[in-house]
Amino acid sequence: MKLAVIEGDGVGKEVIPAALQVLDCFDLSLEKIPLNLGYGKWEKTGQAITDADLKILKECDCILFGAVTTPADPNYKSVLLTIRRELDLYANIRPLKPIKGIKGATGNSDFDILVVRENTEGLYSSIEQVVENEAWSKRIITRRASERIAQIACEYAAKRHNHLTIVHKSNVIKADSLFLNTCREVAQSHNVIHDAMLVDAMAYDMVRSPEKYDVVVAPNLYGDILSDLGGALVGSLGLLPSANVGEKQAFFEPVHGSAPDIAGRGIANPIAAVLSVALLLDWLDKPEQARIVREAVEASINENIKTADLGGNSTTAQVTEFLVQYVQSH
Ligand code: NAI
Ligand code: MG
Repeated sequence: MKLAVIEGDGVGKEVIPAALQVLDCFDLSLEKIPLNLGYGKWEKTGQAITDADLKILKECDCILFGAVTTPADPNYKSVLLTIRRELDLYANIRPLKPIKGIKGATGNSDFDILVVRENTEGLYSSIEQVVENEAWSKRIITRRASERIAQIACEYAAKRHNHLTIVHKSNVIKADSLFLNTCREVAQSHNVIHDAMLVDAMAYDMVRSPEKYDVVVAPNLYGDILSDLGGALVGSLGLLPSANVGEKQAFFEPVHGSAPDIAGRGIANPIAAVLSVALLLDWLDKPEQARIVREAVEASINENIKTADLGGNSTTAQVTEFLVQYVQSH
């Protein structure tokens, strides 16, 4: 198995080395291939990702990724969007699950949501134009992409509470009706109980009653926004892992970005990246190892070894050291 490892920019350079220390506690015969991508590379070379990088990524089985900085410059092509599209990683799986001992923004810790975000089209189609007085971004919804995201969402639902919520805004954005109707058809054919929510109402209701939801399937932008909202429900963006999956490959990354406001200070929470390693272990069919990693995270909270985003005063290195010791002794 080949694992590409991309730290990226900002806190990516802090949380990925931490996550690797945890991964390295297990004897997994993974060949690790480090790759340097992102804004830092662009500043030095004029390219954030090259064709040669993409070729290497296509030859890997899986990828562990930190975060990259993406400037608002209209001429800058997002590295992440490029990778997701080139590798056809069509499903972005984002579990929103409370961690014992952490109170999220609402104090409610009685929920377990799986956001399944369409990852290849929608408003992130990259078909756009910015001229002086007018700008547009084309929002694409296809039956094929809607069908396959609904299918994977239904497969997850079948293993959970068999309930799918389809997020859309088809009352005003007519393209969403193709997403909604296709997801409904797929859910019906899978015998998954389903309902639909307008995205604005969904944001409101996820804050008020997150316990109502099981699997939530959403077009690209809505899934992106609702999962950050989920970060507040869980307690910090520094806690949320994710997996981007395709037919053969999978790409694991914290939901958060490069966090320039805290980068370089050694205080980034490594848990989102470490839980991304747990998702990688699940994907490698190592459930026992994944369980130990999750248990280590709970133990660190229980011992009050927490970074500043969780109200603690431990550093990235101190949290990582605890996690590594826990995993090694279990
Ligand atoms: P962000 O996710 O980097 O940060 C949002 C907030 O969460 C900040 O207050 C930050 O300090 C906090 N935070 C994030 N990760 C944390 C961690 N591990 N521990 C503790 N606190 C953490 O989003 P922002 O600031 O909007 O974006 C910064 C840069 O990251 C931008 O260039 C953006 O394009 C990029 N970005 C990249 C992503 C990726 O590579 N997957 C995802 C989101 C944003
Ligand atoms: Mg995001």
